Amino acid sequence: MDIDAVKSSYARWAPIYDRTFGAATRSGRTASVEFMNAEAGPEILEVGVGTGLALPLYAPGKRVTGVDYSDEMLARAAARVEAEGLTHVAGLRQMDARELDFPDASFDAVAAMHMISVVPEPERVMAEMVRVLRPGGVMVVTNHFARETGGLARIERFMAPFANVLGWHSDFDKSVVTGTPGIALRETRALPPVGMMTLLILERTPVAAAAAVG
Ligand SMILES: C[S@@+](CC[C@H](N)C(=O)[O-])C[C@H]1O[C@@H](n2cnc3c(N)ncnc32)[C@H](O)[C@@H]1O
Repeated sequence: MDIDAVKSSYARWAPIYDRTFGAATRSGRTASVEFMNAEAGPEILEVGVGTGLALPLYAPGKRVTGVDYSDEMLARAAARVEAEGLTHVAGLRQMDARELDFPDASFDAVAAMHMISVVPEPERVMAEMVRVLRPGGVMVVTNHFARETGGLARIERFMAPFANVLGWHSDFDKSVVTGTPGIALRETRALPPVGMMTLLILERTPVAAAAAVG
């Protein structure tokens, strides 16, 4: 998927997202935010925040920043923050996740829910999410990942060429996430109702000490 396709696809999805894909993926957001509420520090970055469906779920005391490339999706997130008085939302910014405009180690937790199979250059997005996460911080990546065998795997491979129309890749490989340097996989959870979506919990590994000089 290229970035122009992201823009046009999510401009089309925005008005119907909450009632369609958004409704079908509620358990992923609930499980992800429950984990962060229980285990993450207060400064949280949600990458690909979309219409902000997860924003009301955060516990008081968290400070959540959301970024998204689509102006249409972000406008809906901003309207939700306003309508529901979500004072824990520190900001919503239009941004390409391939170049996050935050200093290194800015956040205690980074969340990417139903977005890593959508972005162009997901390896670059993963590297950026690791960069802005502090050592010891947690990352949650909730997504559908490719199956290797069975009828569903064949359907996923059949749908793969339609990524630009659908708005996501149906055959996305989990190793793109788990193989990213600088993070370690802590836990994998299959999500209800049928394990279609998976929650990956990862932890930022300590930055290697600088080599001694002299
Ligand atoms: C399927 S929606 C998921 C939204 C939300 N996380 C949720 O769970 O409902 C994927 C989102 O990723 C955003 N996105 C795609 N590519 C992006 C990029 N390069 N930078 C930032 N956001 C991007 C899209 O605009 C869209 O809002």
